[in-house]
Amino acid sequence: MMKTRLLNNGTEIPSPGFGTYRLGSNDEEIYRAVRHALDAGYRHIDTASMYGNEVPVGKAIREGNVPREGLFVTTKLWGSDIIQEGIEKAFDDSMQRLDIGYIDLYLVHWPVKGKIAYTWREMERIYQSGRVKAIGVSNHLIHHLDALLKEAEIIPAVDQVELHPYLVMQDLQDYCHEKGIVVESWSPLGSSKIPLLTDPVLQEIATRKEKTTAQVILRWNLQKQLVPLPKSSDGDRQRENISLFDFNLTADEMADIDHLDRSLRTGIHPDAITF
Ligand code: A2P
Repeated sequence: MMKTRLLNNGTEIPSPGFGTYRLGSNDEEIYRAVRHALDAGYRHIDTASMYGNEVPVGKAIREGNVPREGLFVTTKLWGSDIIQEGIEKAFDDSMQRLDIGYIDLYLVHWPVKGKIAYTWREMERIYQSGRVKAIGVSNHLIHHLDALLKEAEIIPAVDQVELHPYLVMQDLQDYCHEKGIVVESWSPLGSSKIPLLTDPVLQEIATRKEKTTAQVILRWNLQKQLVPLPKSSDGDRQRENISLFDFNLTADEMADIDHLDRSLRTGIHPDAITF
């Protein structure tokens, strides 16, 4: 059900992962959805301090039927903690809220203008303390990565960005591939804000393959070496979103999906975020 990819420091990352942003309206719903996801076969859970759900996510992981070492857990550093120069404390707080012993991947949630190199030095220090298996970034575009890499000792393992067939960012994908940075896709299904799941090209491929459009999009991610993070609160859709390993998209189908790109962002532009 689940395959893994290797990060640039040798850590294995299961793909797809399970996104948890706005997964439920209260802790109980979030807890239940993560427990379901683990039962469905997900082995990679993605959260963030900003989601406000580290406590129920951590509880579901502790009480779920998968041993901790069989799971990959990501959380993220929020921008205001960077601005206030409280990075180490923000990390400790996430560790405490999750209460799962260690974190597999710690990400800088958004680039903070003028603080990119400073933030990364602090992230490197946290990595060197051994409490996290890998460090990376999120929502970093090429110019942010350029600024980071100019002073980095450790290459980020991951860049997690909004990415789907209407926002392909092939130049960023190529850049990351060349540097050994794995790209993760958030909102891989385009969120409910855009009609991606009813796109006629995707529907046509899905009909031909006897799959759903969501599965076609997620399979496209896997064949492009991306790690998608689909989110669903529904058990059937959770299973659907990891049933991706019994079909292949042809080179022509991959190209047809690539051509759907229209640089359409559903979330904020990384240069416009404020904290
Ligand atoms: P639901 O939780 O009811 O399944 P985002 O882009 O913000 O990650 O949100 C993903 C959205 O796509 C959610 O609204 C989720 O709703 C929906 N979704 C997830 N998987 C599927 C699927 N396989 N088919 C249709 N909708 C899906």
